[in-house]
Amino acid sequence: MIASAPAKVILFGEHAVVYGRHAIVSAINLRCYVKVERSNEIRIKSPIGITGLDFEVHPYVSYAIKRFREIKPINGVNVEIRSEIPVASGLGSSSAVTVAVLKALDGEFETGLSDEEIFEIARKVELDVQGIGSGTDPFIATFGGTWIVPERKAVKIGKIRLIVVNTKEKSVTAEMVKKVAELRKKYRNIVDGIFDVIDAITLNSVDALEKGDIKTISELFFFNQCMLKAIGVSNRKIEETIEKLRELGVSAKITGAGGGGCVVGIGDEGSMLSALKEFSGFLVEPGAEGVRFEDKF
Ligand code: PMV
Repeated sequence: MIASAPAKVILFGEHAVVYGRHAIVSAINLRCYVKVERSNEIRIKSPIGITGLDFEVHPYVSYAIKRFREIKPINGVNVEIRSEIPVASGLGSSSAVTVAVLKALDGEFETGLSDEEIFEIARKVELDVQGIGSGTDPFIATFGGTWIVPERKAVKIGKIRLIVVNTKEKSVTAEMVKKVAELRKKYRNIVDGIFDVIDAITLNSVDALEKGDIKTISELFFFNQCMLKAIGVSNRKIEETIEKLRELGVSAKITGAGGGGCVVGIGDEGSMLSALKEFSGFLVEPGAEGVRFEDKF
């Protein structure tokens, strides 16, 4: 049985969302594919390597199998992973693999799990591995689409394309969240003020996203990036990338925790295509479909 689940980008509101403000998160058409077959032993094959149940090397897949076994006590399974999603870059690769593994297991072993149930198990796996987590990544990987959080209300996004550029520097979410918390301890009123501005930017973006209004989205990306820079989660590589993208006519911001990872940008099609010649990245469509079975691996 084969299943796939999508990557995600945070379009607006990262970090502020940790302090109760809004964020907009969207599934994109980069996917993680998982093939499972019944077997007498557990074997996990991915670009990282081949292991058995291994909570160090393949933590998300191993915990997904462990949690699935609580529902159906299977002896073994062959799991193979192929992913288009760069890892540790804020695009939700861990949740995509978790959700795709659960869906493929569900199909292979005929457990008839609903997407809601798959999400609940994936949420447990996120906590098994990370100890904490907002649950947003497994939610998006399962249901796809574009959502405003914390309400989890769907946003009907217009037909737009975005560019995602990988700075190739690692983004460590826990480190960045801690850095922001420390800044907020010292400058509580200033940082909370910045979060309020980010909240306003996010709320303003809903209409622009629904209309596919590239100009307004560009302006709001710029505002949001200035605020992310102000709270210290940008760095030189990110700023240089964003500056070069701007010269090419693409407005971009960090997506996710920052300190590395990816930036997301928007511009007219020609500008984005010329940006792709200079950067390692992808043109993506927001609002991609959630977890699903596949015919091909
Ligand atoms: O880089 P990611 O995908 O882990 O996103 C982190 C988003 C934060 O707002 C910084 C943290 C969070 O849990 O929402």
